[in-house]
Amino acid sequence: MKSGLEDVVAAETVLSDVDGKNGRLIVRGVSLDDLVTSSRYEDVLELLFDGFFPMRGSVQPALGAARQEVFAHVAQTDPALVALPPVEGMRALLARLDDGDDLAAALRLVAAPSVFTTALLRLKAGLSPIAPDAGLPHAADVLRMMTGTMPSMQQVSALDRYLVTVADHGLNASTFAARVVASTQAGLTSSVLAALSALKGPLHGGAPGPVLDMLDAAATPADAPAWLESALANGERLMGFGHRVYRVRDPRADALKGAVRVLAGSGAIDPARLALAEAVEAAALDLLKRKKPDRPLDTNVEFYTALLLEALGFSREAFTCVFAMGRVGGWIAHAREQALDGRLIRPMSVYVGPMPQVAA
Ligand code: COA
Repeated sequence: MKSGLEDVVAAETVLSDVDGKNGRLIVRGVSLDDLVTSSRYEDVLELLFDGFFPMRGSVQPALGAARQEVFAHVAQTDPALVALPPVEGMRALLARLDDGDDLAAALRLVAAPSVFTTALLRLKAGLSPIAPDAGLPHAADVLRMMTGTMPSMQQVSALDRYLVTVADHGLNASTFAARVVASTQAGLTSSVLAALSALKGPLHGGAPGPVLDMLDAAATPADAPAWLESALANGERLMGFGHRVYRVRDPRADALKGAVRVLAGSGAIDPARLALAEAVEAAALDLLKRKKPDRPLDTNVEFYTALLLEALGFSREAFTCVFAMGRVGGWIAHAREQALDGRLIRPMSVYVGPMPQVAA
């Protein structure tokens, strides 16, 4: 067997292609570079859902209405749920949505991570949740629901670019989890819950928070090389680097670096913070090249995600929730693709335990 199912093909998909050799991501025939410059998150949902749901009219108003529908569940939030880490609180609220397979169920699930996360963040801060404005584009409303004020155009476009960038990415661990559950015909909420649980781990979607911890610990551009060297010598992984599929730079890293530079230009990121990040990235790449010569390790999506989400005002413990706000579109499209295929996913294992004693 292949440890970690590395290189094992487990699905056919029309949704996205991760070309690890050339550092390219294609979503339904469109390369990520084009997608991020021409699309909002709603456009990408239309692209992903095409053929899997009957799409009537534009997604934006329907998604706005879904945000409002989902917000009704926020009233059920109790203090124990607010005390949980945001991703766990959000998962608990999401579990309240009933299983379904139609477009209405899909849009409620797309809306849920955004509505629940922003409400939980406000409740944690002792503030009242803010109801969605169905008339706004999704990214603008997410930021408004979090802060209570209308975000700037640069902030909206940075969040939109992030959501578009992470919307789908081949058969990653959370998408595979979604497809396994979908193959049992359990319904979309069940698939999304499985995917969210897989996303939460630091080897998948839980890395951007630790990227900021690393920047804090590295402290200054001058201290970064020594700090990184000692972390690696202690057997730690450098967060925001390495990928199962990409053997070159993750194209999403550059898509997000572009957005980070725009935010920095508008004064939303302290130039010293950006300079530290760039110094840490350069030192880490140099170190990984020297210490792990057999394994090409480059910057992945999480590195600049960390700076972008920090600049937009998300607390680091909420970063995985924001990842889910974008990836949920991909999970749902994959779940539908799998459910329509109709075949149960049921692989085999090799038994390596003891055999029963045979009586002499
Ligand atoms: N820092 C240091 N070493 C790393 C590394 C990192 N970020 N990522 C991989 N490696 C090393 C491993 O230690 C291993 O080296 P060894 O053979 O000398 O023991 C080698 O590269 C292969 O690692 P492996 O665990 O088999 O790779 P994988 O494909 O299973 O892992 C990740 C992929 C993403 C889980 C891994 O690169 C990682 O943990 N990255 C940091 C967390 C992160 O950024 N996650 C977000 C992913 S988008």
